Amino acid sequence: MTQFSHIQLQTENNITTITLDRPKVLNALSTPLMEELIIAITKAEKDDQTRVIVITGSEKAFAAGADIEEMQSKNFSDMQSNNIYGRLQDAFAACRKPVIAAVSGYALGGGCELVMMCDFVLASESAKFGQPEVKLGTLPGIGGSQRLTKLVGRSKAMEICLTGRFIDAAEAERIGLIARILPADSFLDDVYKIAGEIAGYSLSATRMIKQAVHFAESAPLDQGLAFERGLFYASFSTEDQKEGMKAFLEKREPDFKDK
Ligand code: CAA
Repeated sequence: MTQFSHIQLQTENNITTITLDRPKVLNALSTPLMEELIIAITKAEKDDQTRVIVITGSEKAFAAGADIEEMQSKNFSDMQSNNIYGRLQDAFAACRKPVIAAVSGYALGGGCELVMMCDFVLASESAKFGQPEVKLGTLPGIGGSQRLTKLVGRSKAMEICLTGRFIDAAEAERIGLIARILPADSFLDDVYKIAGEIAGYSLSATRMIKQAVHFAESAPLDQGLAFERGLFYASFSTEDQKEGMKAFLEKREPDFKDK
């Protein structure tokens, strides 16, 4: 069994939770933490017991960005040869299961970028997001300038990245950065209700939905529509499509096999 020092990994009821665990530095994303995150997400993708992945932090911070103390003295060669920022994004891109970010407190810089690598974001009322790299003399480096622009549009992304200001959960929901705000006092219970609902569906269906929605981010509409149709028709070769539709007609709960 892999021993982790900077994250916790737990699987229960087909939901794997990855908890960022460097509380003294607000879960700053050090290289060792990101290496563990790569191992954990790869493991969860392969694990038959895992149907949904939840990534979370503490009440005060999801993650306050890449570790500034670690980064400060690095040079170009260090950054390029290790390429942890590229490898982390590759590991998320290779994960075909739904990944939910559950955010309380700060999600800044690399923390906000990690959030945007997940498939959707559930945030507590306390959540605060931002790309404050400009204040450190640099720019977002784990996809912030790209994913934020796709999610919220150029004007808003430009303003957020150029000012480095923090935005609260209400604004994040309004501009489309996050999916939903949940009450702080029942936050994780509510997250697990949503994750549990998704975990109860056919994994082949949730995988195909994830694939189709991600395809829309980079493909022109005609190609996206053709891609979606291909997947939709392919779903008719699964037992779960037969079961899901039969159960509806028989007015009972479906018993999906692909789980
Ligand atoms: N890296 C390293 N350490 C960090 C950190 C980070 N990103 N964020 C916070 N910490 C540390 C602080 O240095 C402090 O450590 P000490 O107790 O040893 O002094 C501890 O966490 C607690 O932080 P604060 O005392 O600052 O807590 P606060 O409540 O007063 O403020 C905060 C919270 C507003 C989030 C503030 O900590 C902050 O602004 N953090 C930095 C945010 C940031 O700039 N993130 C971007 C990083 S660059 C990046 O992510 C690049 C990229 O795209 C890949």
